[in-house]
Amino acid sequence: MDNVTLLQKAKEARKMAYAPYSGFTVGAALLTKEGKVFTGCNIESSVFSPSLCAERVALAKAISEGEKDFVSIAIVGAPKDEEPAEPCYPCGVCRQVLSEHVDLSAFTVVTEENGKAKTCTLKDLLPKAFVFEK
Ligand code: THU
Repeated sequence: MDNVTLLQKAKEARKMAYAPYSGFTVGAALLTKEGKVFTGCNIESSVFSPSLCAERVALAKAISEGEKDFVSIAIVGAPKDEEPAEPCYPCGVCRQVLSEHVDLSAFTVVTEENGKAKTCTLKDLLPKAFVFEK
């Protein structure tokens, strides 16, 4: 699947965001090696700390359905009712959580800047991930 289509799926997911506290809505679309897409949106809580980022919602949906091989994730975010102009990169927590389930150097993060798809690897965003030897 091409990056523009994956971004489009993230935009659809963003419409489902529950973000009454920050007013910042995010959508994510996680692509598996088989070509399946798992989407997520941010889900906030009135007690704030349990709030979920769109990326981790998408990952949790995929992992809980047995998926193990991931290729890329597209992310779009902006204040509610605004078109995303700036790229929305995953927060540090999501970078770390994703790192445990992907090949850091191969997995790509797709963002959108002024209507254009941009990609980088997760390794670019998290060069020194914490690794816990199991
Ligand atoms: N958020 C995400 O869902 N993903 C990101 O990559 C950045 C931040 C959410 C968390 C919170 O609900 C809102 O955006 C503002 O931080």
